[in-house]
Amino acid sequence: APRVSRGGDLDGRVVVVSAGGTREPLDPVRFIGNRSTGMQGIALARAAHERGAQVVLVAANVPAARQEEAPGLSVLDVETTAELRAAVREHARAADVVVMAAAVADFRPTSVAAHKIKREGVSEQTVTLTANPDVLAELARDRLRAGQVVVGFAAETGDVTTSVLEHGRAKARRKGADLLAVNEVGDGKGFGTPDNAVTFLDRDGREVGAADGTKVAVAHALWDVVVRLAPLAGH
Ligand code: CTP
Ligand code: CA
Repeated sequence: APRVSRGGDLDGRVVVVSAGGTREPLDPVRFIGNRSTGMQGIALARAAHERGAQVVLVAANVPAARQEEAPGLSVLDVETTAELRAAVREHARAADVVVMAAAVADFRPTSVAAHKIKREGVSEQTVTLTANPDVLAELARDRLRAGQVVVGFAAETGDVTTSVLEHGRAKARRKGADLLAVNEVGDGKGFGTPDNAVTFLDRDGREVGAADGTKVAVAHALWDVVVRLAPLAGH
């Protein structure tokens, strides 16, 4: 694709951002989903576009994403993890940076009922789930374009034995991504709010930055880290 110059420190770069949350169908009318609204992903796409990048926004169940369409910012609507994976990987082949901001369903129903599941005479239901591929880990492993920067987001709650940041460090090492933005979710943090607080970890789990404020501010802070850390490919 032609690289159009619009000014900014991401001038002419190609970036892919996934946003929202994937849904996995149970039957024609029901799905298993999550609470991601897509706000952080939209902010990331918009910020990259403002900074000159050519942006592909892969939007999982984010109706508002359509309105982001602009010259240099294309929106691809997806529903399931399989659709998101295919769209991200296709466009990642030309991308300098891929940011996985979407909340990807870890599991999907092993079989999808062809007809609406009926309740009559049923007092208990079991749903069997199959693990989905880890899109981020695959991108980090496959490096679909040489020198590509792969970025993930980790939503953590912390638990009795392990803090948010400790979970984040372990995840950074496990995923193999160049950068992991760790944020605390739950208790009114993260999902559906205009604000976010993240710590940026490198692939060894070392802290390389932090941001606290609006999702727009967090988005710009992420691009700052990407520009600072990585000599981007193809230039
Ligand atoms: N991710 C992905 N594919 C999946 C699950 C997650 O690409 N099947 C990506 C997300 O887009 C995010 C990062 O991995 O960028 C971290 O997601 P998260 O849910 O925090 O991590 P998981 O590895 O799924 O671990 P867990 O949910 O068990 O904490
Ligand atoms: Ca997960």
